Amino acid sequence: MAQVTFIGHSCFEIVSGETTLLIDPFLNGNPSTDRTPDSFSPDYILITHGHGDHIGDTVEIAKRCGATVIANYEIFEWLSKQEIQAHGMQMGGEFEFPFGRMKMTIAFHGSMLPDGSYGGNPAGLMLKLPTGTIYHAGDTALFSDMQLYGDEGIDLAIVPIGDNYTMGPRDAVRATQFLKPRQVMPCHYNTWPPIAQDAAAWAHEIRANTTAEPVILEPGQSFELVK
Ligand code: NI
Ligand code: MN
Repeated sequence: MAQVTFIGHSCFEIVSGETTLLIDPFLNGNPSTDRTPDSFSPDYILITHGHGDHIGDTVEIAKRCGATVIANYEIFEWLSKQEIQAHGMQMGGEFEFPFGRMKMTIAFHGSMLPDGSYGGNPAGLMLKLPTGTIYHAGDTALFSDMQLYGDEGIDLAIVPIGDNYTMGPRDAVRATQFLKPRQVMPCHYNTWPPIAQDAAAWAHEIRANTTAEPVILEPGQSFELVK
């Protein structure tokens, strides 16, 4: 069983077995959460891309608790220069970590780092944990290769629905049709006015048009993924 907590925006904490994973820890400046960087002590921090609302407080958290950061190779280099322990990957690559396998998947978006450094390509994360397969799409447009990712047997898909910067609710329904997860959870919405969305209405569309069960969490809420 994995415990999945929606921290807010695109940030999730996943406890799987003995391991705590923290995805896209954007805390300072995130209007969706009161959680502070010092309230997290993950074993690993997983980064989808370089934008400030995703890399967030990674450096501060990793320096404090010694977490290993997993990111694309360009972000790996940027973190290594700041003496952060990191593991670099690239799109399509999979690696066996102590917590399970992770594949870095494609995403259609940008990735510039907060200081203007080149952040490589944006990514999604396919986490093949012993406790279930979780796909975090990152920030992305809809793309048809999601059908191939659907072949991985996804237990939980986390997809952006905010629109404007990523796919919106309609495309996120199409993404769910492609991904065929057992359960699907929205992210990257309601953080700021340009990405305000009605998650309950979206859940209704998911039930009407896909085989997935929608799971809507408020920031701070957790859910137990049963494989
Ligand atoms: Ni972004
Ligand atoms: Mn974003």
